[in-house]
Amino acid sequence: MTTTTTGTSTVNGSVGTAHTRVEGRDKVTGAARYAAEIPFDELAHGWLVVSTIARGRIRSLETAPVLEMTGVLTVLHHHNAPRVDSDYVGMLGTPDPTAAVFQHDRVPHMGWPVALVVAETPEQAREAAEALVVRYEEEPHDVAFSGERPDAYAAEGHMPAVTEKGDLDSELAASAVVVDAEYTTPEEHHSPMEPHAATARWDGGRLEVLDSNQGTTWVQGELAKMFSLDPDSVRVRSEHVGGGFGSKGLRAHQVAAVMAATALQRPVRVVLTRRQMFSLTGYRSPTTQRIRLGADADGRLRALEHRSLSLTSTVHEFVEPSAGVARVMYDADAHHTANRLVRLDVPTPTWMRAPGEAPGSFALEAALDELAEKCGIDPIELRARNKPERGPVSGLPFSTHNLLACFQEGARRFGWADRDPRPGLRRNGRWLLGTGTAAASFGAGAMPSTAVVTAEADGTFTVRIAAADIGTGARTALTLVAADALEVTPDRVHVRIGDSDFGPAMIAGGSMGTRSWAWAVTAAAAELRERLTLGTGIPPEGITVRSDTSAAIGALAQKERHSFGAQFAEVAVDVTTGEVRVRRMLGIFAAGRIVNPLTARSQFVGGMTWGISMALHEEAVRDQASGGHYGADLAGYHVAAHADVPHIEADWVDDPDPDDPVGIKGIGEVGIVGAAAAIANAVWHATGVRHRHLPIRPDRVLPAGAAAEGERDA
Ligand code: MOS
Repeated sequence: MTTTTTGTSTVNGSVGTAHTRVEGRDKVTGAARYAAEIPFDELAHGWLVVSTIARGRIRSLETAPVLEMTGVLTVLHHHNAPRVDSDYVGMLGTPDPTAAVFQHDRVPHMGWPVALVVAETPEQAREAAEALVVRYEEEPHDVAFSGERPDAYAAEGHMPAVTEKGDLDSELAASAVVVDAEYTTPEEHHSPMEPHAATARWDGGRLEVLDSNQGTTWVQGELAKMFSLDPDSVRVRSEHVGGGFGSKGLRAHQVAAVMAATALQRPVRVVLTRRQMFSLTGYRSPTTQRIRLGADADGRLRALEHRSLSLTSTVHEFVEPSAGVARVMYDADAHHTANRLVRLDVPTPTWMRAPGEAPGSFALEAALDELAEKCGIDPIELRARNKPERGPVSGLPFSTHNLLACFQEGARRFGWADRDPRPGLRRNGRWLLGTGTAAASFGAGAMPSTAVVTAEADGTFTVRIAAADIGTGARTALTLVAADALEVTPDRVHVRIGDSDFGPAMIAGGSMGTRSWAWAVTAAAAELRERLTLGTGIPPEGITVRSDTSAAIGALAQKERHSFGAQFAEVAVDVTTGEVRVRRMLGIFAAGRIVNPLTARSQFVGGMTWGISMALHEEAVRDQASGGHYGADLAGYHVAAHADVPHIEADWVDDPDPDDPVGIKGIGEVGIVGAAAAIANAVWHATGVRHRHLPIRPDRVLPAGAAAEGERDA
């Protein structure tokens, strides 16, 4: 089939073929501009001043001396900043009022924004910000997170707080084998390479914000509501983004920049420092999780309980829904889950790659490994025996459930069959060696989006969609999807993203970006092709079609929709130094149709790398005395570096989503899920000692190592 515009034979095979990033050349040559690099005439620079106490009130700000400093234009604070509406419901629920800066004198946590100093240059702004004297009435703070808090309460977030089926105690009592263990994960941070940055300006009566975010529609909508503006009079652009992982939504710096641009009637840029990111851009809450499993001797679960406690701030409720993973993965006659919260004088946590599933899978998949050991059953066989037929809590059918196919392929490639299940047996010089495995899952969804596709008079096609490419390769994936939908080669498709003027679209989040956008692009392209087959010829301005997938997505049947995966790790542990090295990892995923194998593999490997980091390195430590972090920087907060990361292989099994026009599920988050558990399980296999607290630091391995040596000697 040919179209009137191509005059060439048709193509329909771009999806599924490796394609380098369409913006790759711009990125490596520096032509791609990030939010803090875009030049403006008359640009002024804002620097945030953040609180040095964890709880209390601002008594005074001594602005007069600062306003006399060279280059200083203004100081915004709670006495002079514009009032905003922070009591609205936005695209993702009620926003974190941390973004509604300078509205009151209350300080709810260390690092809370108390002022913005604006000057002609960033250096002048920073110097003046550091010179600003702020006096506080300090109140006692409470930042102590532990599983023992009597003030913890069940909290909903985006899923029910508690699910309960069956009589847990009687099923546990009737079980041949029981695992009852507490697992903890620490506070973790997103650490994107590009710090948050925004420039705001008024341009012909419209507010324009150049930003680094995960969704221009999202930030546009939030700013419009907050400043009581018509959404059409707000334009947010975010063309290139150096990582987000959940942290790049509406934050204090965009709001402060808009306030300053309004006050000064000049473009104002606010860039966060790495240190400020630790208190202003969200993070993953620490968790304390208790898992109780009861099984028959053959490993079949009679009882499953997964309770998770996380923290939130005093200004906003955010739940890290770690117990949610148990509602998907395993069924039991008695099945109880609960997500609970405690409110502390800390910044509000937020979504961070695989929110819930990342820490939840550490606990659950480590507990499964303990159960496998106690039952004397291979960990993969144990999971096979407990594969649920339907959603354990929802009772809904799964759209596809290819977890076991992942384990089969993974076991074959990893050499699992040769593994001696007994721990502490393999030694290589000073290293004890072990292997471990764990399951992964993450929700596969789609959200309504709009897309605009234009057939240009020169035979090319332009796709416009308010998508975000946060480093994932989304722009390239959409180019391939559009090419197939238009039946042309990718070089004839130009995809433009990151502009709220293109119409509402899903954010890059929840592993739903590419699927949601691809659906809208496919729908617009299909209609455009119909228009083109009418053969009317293309006028100079082109022919443009707009799609909206709201109705199609609203009509989707209720099902359990998930990506799955099987994680494998081999570690070497030196119990005399406490050092753990990951030697190799393999992840096999069932994550829908893979659009671009090149960038998809990179996504999976990136998630698995973060799993290494989560298992062994990452930990933000809060000082109880000050209420702030120790070492809020990338020297003190260690993320896996190149030398920590071994050969990692990621691949997938065939798993097209039956209800998606392209077969996509979404791959952004499943790569981290289960990865830390596979490593912890491998550390047990190497040493015979269970590590239930992340990260598995040398000081945690040392005493455990000594105990293990002692046990073996005895
Ligand atoms: Mo992700 S936590 O949905 O950016």
